[in-house]
Amino acid sequence: MKRTSHIPELREIIALEKEKGRKIALVPTMGFLHKGHLSLIEHAKQTDAFVVLSIFVNPLQFGPKEDLSRYPRDLERDARMVEEAGVDVLFHPMVEEMYPRPMVTFVEVSELDTMLCGATRPGHFRGVATVVSKLFHIAQPDMAFFGQKDYQQYKLIERMVIDLNLPIKIYPVPIVREEDGLAMSSRNVLLTSEQRQQAVILSKSLKAAEVSIRAGQRSAQEIERQLRERITLESDGVIDYVEIRDTDDLSKVTDIKRPILLALAVFFGKTRLIDNKVVEVDQDV
Ligand code: PAF
Repeated sequence: MKRTSHIPELREIIALEKEKGRKIALVPTMGFLHKGHLSLIEHAKQTDAFVVLSIFVNPLQFGPKEDLSRYPRDLERDARMVEEAGVDVLFHPMVEEMYPRPMVTFVEVSELDTMLCGATRPGHFRGVATVVSKLFHIAQPDMAFFGQKDYQQYKLIERMVIDLNLPIKIYPVPIVREEDGLAMSSRNVLLTSEQRQQAVILSKSLKAAEVSIRAGQRSAQEIERQLRERITLESDGVIDYVEIRDTDDLSKVTDIKRPILLALAVFFGKTRLIDNKVVEVDQDV
């Protein structure tokens, strides 16, 4: 595996592969990799493309009071993992490489960036869209892979690519979960053991909500109420949001008549976890 922290070197490596006719697949990450990231790599490798994985903890997507300095990092462990997983080149730039001077140019995917996580994290998705756009310009991939745990992020990037006519196919990759159901996240290591145990309530309550919908409940308000009740009664988690949204444009849903996204964000202490579930609904029911 090649590795570089410099943009011109990465560009050279990629240009050589493109000359050989290889397609380029980009897996953007912030490191501290887990099985969810390995699944992104597996999906990228299945395309036979030349796989570029980036590790960059992007300061632009963290608010002033957020966990940028606490965000877990272990570059050498990550490098071993991605080499074993068959990544072709690891790109791990420093902040000065990505942002050599204060940024005055940003990418904003309006509306999609102010709802759900965007409501509590103002500026977060502007930071995400801007850095992903930079990574797209740097690596010029034919395709890029995003985990569905960050469903809103995936939809926002998909929309950015459409609106800006970027010739990049966006692949969503299903959530990978721990055995007890907790969605894999780099932030899980920040939980105390008690918080870690309690955090299972997120996937449990999402499953219970799905069962309720399958049993015929069609009121989004009632499903949201059930989710909130379960999380509050069975954990010390503090709910940021619990919402039911359209899977496509993320608009609010009142009556559950088409595929919907159950989305939630809950604080366990200082650590904010997100999870979601797509529930396919028979249109005639
Ligand atoms: O999902 C992430 O890890 C980040 O938001 C991303 C897409 C790498 C942009 O910094």
